[in-house]
Amino acid sequence: MRVDTQVGIVGAGPAGLLLSHLLHLSGIESVVLELRSRDYCERRVRAGVLEQGTVDLLTECGVGDRMRREGLVHRGIELRFGGRGHRIDFPTLTGGRAITVYGQQEVVKDLIAARLAAGGRIMFEADDVSVHDIQTDRPHVRFLHGGEPMELQCRLLAGCDGFHGVCREAIPAEALSIYERVYPFAWFGVLAQTPPPSAELIYAAHERGFALYSMRSPEISRLYLQVAPDEEAVNWPDTRIWRELHRRLGEEAGERLKEGTILEKGVTGMRSFIAEPMQYGRLYLAGDAAHIVPPTGAKGLNLAVADVGVLARAMAKYFKSGGEDLLRAYSATCLRRVWRAEHFSWWMTSMLHRFPAHDGFQHRLQRSELEYVIGSRAAATSLAENYVGLPFDW
Ligand code: FAD
Ligand code: DHB
Repeated sequence: MRVDTQVGIVGAGPAGLLLSHLLHLSGIESVVLELRSRDYCERRVRAGVLEQGTVDLLTECGVGDRMRREGLVHRGIELRFGGRGHRIDFPTLTGGRAITVYGQQEVVKDLIAARLAAGGRIMFEADDVSVHDIQTDRPHVRFLHGGEPMELQCRLLAGCDGFHGVCREAIPAEALSIYERVYPFAWFGVLAQTPPPSAELIYAAHERGFALYSMRSPEISRLYLQVAPDEEAVNWPDTRIWRELHRRLGEEAGERLKEGTILEKGVTGMRSFIAEPMQYGRLYLAGDAAHIVPPTGAKGLNLAVADVGVLARAMAKYFKSGGEDLLRAYSATCLRRVWRAEHFSWWMTSMLHRFPAHDGFQHRLQRSELEYVIGSRAAATSLAENYVGLPFDW
């Protein structure tokens, strides 16, 4: 069967869903193809920190009601090292900006609900997706739906299918430049039924490895531990998780961390990755399909949102007036912000983690950098303005 639409979108993560929603608000039709089921997409636990610009965009486009009710506004984070905590205050350093803690899967739920309520088409459980004729004005996507072969014909195509998707792979290798770093550790992420040990996020640099204390609600904590890159969750019984969290958090806050039920565990590899340009012919890559950051700066989801904000505007101009200037500028416009976030995420990762190959010299450099960040208003401002996110038109 053949389906026709203006924009074909591969992937129903935050990038694909928000793009479809923004296009709809501009009167442009799209179809989203997603490998997984709706239930799977809505349960996938990932990021949790929304920059001010992300919150503003979701609010402006009408999908921010629950986020504003249930999201937790945070005006600072704590950096912990040498057995002490040091607060970085966002509003005083950034002219009043803050972040909101609201789980990525909640953003996904809100976007799916908004698309379906508006009659939008999301085809879940689309198998064997492949993109064709992307260098022509009639790109199309072939896939199986309910076992039946289907073809989606469109004018423009958005590859929002994450790092392991098929869209980036469809671009000839010689047309892309890849920049990449793989880190010698991973994050072991835990979702636990326990009140967070602090009202704000704690980034802890410890000699046993980095730890991060985040949350999803006043009753649910989201906790991360630096582990070996090939670590498996089965090696971490609950008792080991709590012991390690208490150690890395230090005595005072550690005592406040209560050992509740562990709801979910998983290991995520750490990588920096950028594919340039983020476009080939009529295929536009957005979000993790084009770039990955290590999670330490909480930038992945925010970059995906910023990309599709730019892409939706460019596509709207193209369909309204035929003007292609914004589409032509899409990749360069996004990459400026992407590289800023890549640098910030690499810097936070490098400052806070224990690297297996590091010696005393490098440990002391890391310590000196942390002391500088908490001791100098200029250094603290640099961290704060990157963390809350630079303006979308930066
Ligand atoms: P995704 O959310 O990956 O969405 C892509 C969608 O495409 C998925 O629904 C996928 O099922 C679908 N898809 C894939 N292949 C196909 C195909 N062939 N056909 C059709 N559909 C396909 N960031 C942070 O800031 N903090 C974190 O703690 C954090 N934790 C993370 C943990 C994990 C395990 C991962 C993978 C990422 C994490 N991130 C984190 C990064 C953040 O979640 C991503 O940057 C964000 O999800 C990017 O959104 P996206 O829409 O571009 O891609
Ligand atoms: C969360 C994830 C991050 O990568 C981060 O830097 C802060 C918080 C979270 O999942 O809550």
